[in-house]
Amino acid sequence: MNEPIRFFLPGPSYVPMDVRQAMTQPMMGHRSAAFKELYAKIAARLPQVLRTRGDAMFASASSTLLMEAAIASLVRQDVLHVVNGAFSKRWFDISKALGKSPDKIEVPLGQALQPDTLRAALRRKRYEAVAVVHNETSTGVMNPLAEISRAVHEEGDALVLVDTVSSLGGAPVEVDEWGLDVALAGVQKALALPPGLAVFSLSERAAERAAQVPHRGYYTDLLLYRSKHREGGTITTPALPLVYALDVQLDRILAEGMEARWARHRRLQQRTTAWAAERGIEYATAPDARSLTVSCLKPPAGVQAPDLVKQLAKQGWTVGGGYGDWKASTFRIGHMGEVQDADLDALLRTIDEVVPSCIAS
Ligand SMILES: Cc1ncc(COP(=O)(O)O)c(C=O)c1O
Repeated sequence: MNEPIRFFLPGPSYVPMDVRQAMTQPMMGHRSAAFKELYAKIAARLPQVLRTRGDAMFASASSTLLMEAAIASLVRQDVLHVVNGAFSKRWFDISKALGKSPDKIEVPLGQALQPDTLRAALRRKRYEAVAVVHNETSTGVMNPLAEISRAVHEEGDALVLVDTVSSLGGAPVEVDEWGLDVALAGVQKALALPPGLAVFSLSERAAERAAQVPHRGYYTDLLLYRSKHREGGTITTPALPLVYALDVQLDRILAEGMEARWARHRRLQQRTTAWAAERGIEYATAPDARSLTVSCLKPPAGVQAPDLVKQLAKQGWTVGGGYGDWKASTFRIGHMGEVQDADLDALLRTIDEVVPSCIAS
């Protein structure tokens, strides 16, 4: 049984006690038989989270490393980015920083990408890859990933590179069924682990393309990760305490079951939507674009969002403030990871109690 959760940041999210405790285990050599055994256990289960029969691996880094690695390893020049928030903008900037020639489709904040817009762009120019953020944590937008991936495959042979940082483990991500060439995610969001590891899948087709890309770097070379993975280990010294944590948390995630986990997140989102609607609290996000893992809301009438976040913190509750362009005008509830219905209900009750003091102050 976990303690009640009062921590609703949209990442890092609450981490269960047994997972935190797992990190205190003694160190071992990362080329030892014991580590190989641990690695094999993880390698057998991680593909079930990413829903792939292909390679599923991890890097000792935050998600941004893998955003960079995907571009460095799989793009020679031409990549199309879907930009609809701070993290998709970051990915576009990474492509520029690597000297690639990225183009972007800009989608207004709070809206999801329409697959037809993407189709039109793909008909104008041939791209090696399309880079999409599944769940824009900054605005609480979830893009229709299955449709987007289908559009890319139907319009040409571009690779589908997806940041599933704040969706994996909380919303359906079907790597094989949807034809995702890379799906990458930090573990500190809906997988409910401490930050510091990032997981990813790499399709066979992507690996073949990578072999044609020069100067993939070293820590950013996804082919190197794959060859070490196939030998049963990591390219460098892994963040061992986090690997222990991953081992324990994978058991919890798979015991719940991916479908059940997605259903719980859907329920949490619906509870939040119903609560907001009853109080006339508006979502900043368009109704057809709302994320299953994070709700981005405008504050109730007469309340400043940063003040609400501060007042909740005084009572021991953590929610996210707004992010980027929406910093002052929104607040975000991360209903992800191990959050249960009762935890969310307690938070929503507390917000109800705190709001009058925000109006008075
Ligand atoms: C959608 C998304 N992509 C990328 C990142 C960057 O992740 P990290 O801080 O793990 O590098 C975040 C972080 O919040 C995110 O929400």
